[in-house]
Amino acid sequence: MTIFLIGFMGSGKSTVANLLATDFIDMDAVIVDNIGMPISVYFERYGEPAFRQVESDVLKTLASSGQIVSTGGGVVSSKENRRILSESTSQVIYLKSNFSDLYARIMADKENVRPLFLEHTKEALEVIYESRKALYEMVATKTVLVTDKCPEDIVKEIQL
Ligand code: S3P
Repeated sequence: MTIFLIGFMGSGKSTVANLLATDFIDMDAVIVDNIGMPISVYFERYGEPAFRQVESDVLKTLASSGQIVSTGGGVVSSKENRRILSESTSQVIYLKSNFSDLYARIMADKENVRPLFLEHTKEALEVIYESRKALYEMVATKTVLVTDKCPEDIVKEIQL
């Protein structure tokens, strides 16, 4: 069975996926392999809609992987992606947090500077967060509140 980890940027999807299985699939890394450049460069060159198309194509290929898959925070934006997530016989785990914690983590992550972070003010990013909240809930088969929890405890809750 495929297990998707979903949630906003900075919610710890990759860290938790790595603890669940060291051979987890990082969707963003698969996308980077496919496009042959960093996501931020792709965004700048081809725009967000082109990125979303690649993201959707990759999601389709991973739905039947039977692996632990950490997704990009925007995977729930499209109806088609939500259908894929809901229809596949997958578990979809939502790592839920509040915006201020997420923003602090996105800002602190110098290794992974997200294009949406560069392109938006804090207020605009919060609007995106608010618009996605219900979408994560909509497709999740399990929601784990990650605020003030270490990755190991989050993993324990997922495995309950
Ligand atoms: C995005 C999140 C990123 C990456 C891209 C777009 C988003 O993934 O897919 O920059 O729209 O929220 P992470 O959630 O792993 O940072």
